[in-house]
Amino acid sequence: MSVRRLAEDQFQPAAFAFSDENAVWADKTIQKYPAGRQQSAVIPLLMRAQEQDGWVTRAAIEKIADMLDMAYIRVLEVATFYTQFQLHPVGTRAHVQVCGTTPCMLRGSEALMSVCKSKIHAHPFERNAEGTLSWEEVECLGACVNAPMVMIGKDTYEDLTPARLEEIIDTFAAGNGASIKPGTQIDRIFSAPEGGLTSLTTEEPKARTRAKKTDAESVSAPVDAAPVPPSEAARPKSTDAETNAALKTPATAPKAAAKNAKAAEEQPVSGTAAAEPAPAVKAEAPAAKPSLTDKNRPTGVEKPAAPDDLKMISGVGPKIEATLNEIGIFTFAQVASWKKAEREWVDGYLNFRGRIERDDWVKQAKALAKGGEAEYIKVFGKKPR
Ligand code: FES
Repeated sequence: MSVRRLAEDQFQPAAFAFSDENAVWADKTIQKYPAGRQQSAVIPLLMRAQEQDGWVTRAAIEKIADMLDMAYIRVLEVATFYTQFQLHPVGTRAHVQVCGTTPCMLRGSEALMSVCKSKIHAHPFERNAEGTLSWEEVECLGACVNAPMVMIGKDTYEDLTPARLEEIIDTFAAGNGASIKPGTQIDRIFSAPEGGLTSLTTEEPKARTRAKKTDAESVSAPVDAAPVPPSEAARPKSTDAETNAALKTPATAPKAAAKNAKAAEEQPVSGTAAAEPAPAVKAEAPAAKPSLTDKNRPTGVEKPAAPDDLKMISGVGPKIEATLNEIGIFTFAQVASWKKAEREWVDGYLNFRGRIERDDWVKQAKALAKGGEAEYIKVFGKKPR
């Protein structure tokens, strides 16, 4: 823990004054606050005094208290509370603040302090022989994910090893501190995982990822009100109306889908991506839903007395089966006969994005039409679902 006391008298100057430039800045800063609230400028003024002289002197505290019409003790309370304020003379080139709180401690902050002791001074707040360097231990500086870390001036240096901290201290001692890139000192982007991404590593669209995790049909079926990709919202209204009429579904389904799509579009990018571009995900071209009057729509039939159980085809669940029935598809033979254009029509109608081809519905349907479950097992080596 750092000790928050003013420096001994021997270090304290007799007086403090802002430079002309800083005095102008201080007047403008004080004027930002409403009448009677000028004391709100106390932290910015203390920080500017520190930036000017390297540390906060008793004379600076008293001067700022006079400027803001505050009691000395009130400004002293602020200056002694925040570890950002240095109450002792510090190194002219670097004052190294080593985080010693639990995450950094578990990741090696004690070794970093040993470096400071050997390269700067055995005791915190003491300067090296040249007066250019000093160090202290502080509490969490908010970069725990990249522990252990230190702060020098306004910059943090993270993911440190003792060897890297030695290099940093040497560079500051030589007056070249500005040449060091702040932030993480290892191969990672900000606080992203070491060694590269561990998730979102493919360009697979979100909707497909979701479909894998849940019932594929729950996000693919046009009658489903589950979240759908933004491309859904781009469909012409007439197409949705046509779909509703054909499927006899409540008109609320497309409304819910559009609402979900809008919410998905408005959702901000999160996490480390705030300062770093998110991994590229290919934008899907808006998929136009095929018309029910399109020439490639497979020929439908009246419901037979004993329709086939289309759910035996992998990729067809109750909702998809119902949708197929709505457009007159009831038998394996019908599915087995679909030509490429017809398969593409159905795939687009179900918003399946190629799943009919990937699951090879035609081959499955041919086997089921030819010999039912036995033929299916013969062809695929497993039972149909
Ligand atoms: S514990 Fe060290 S930065 Fe938070």
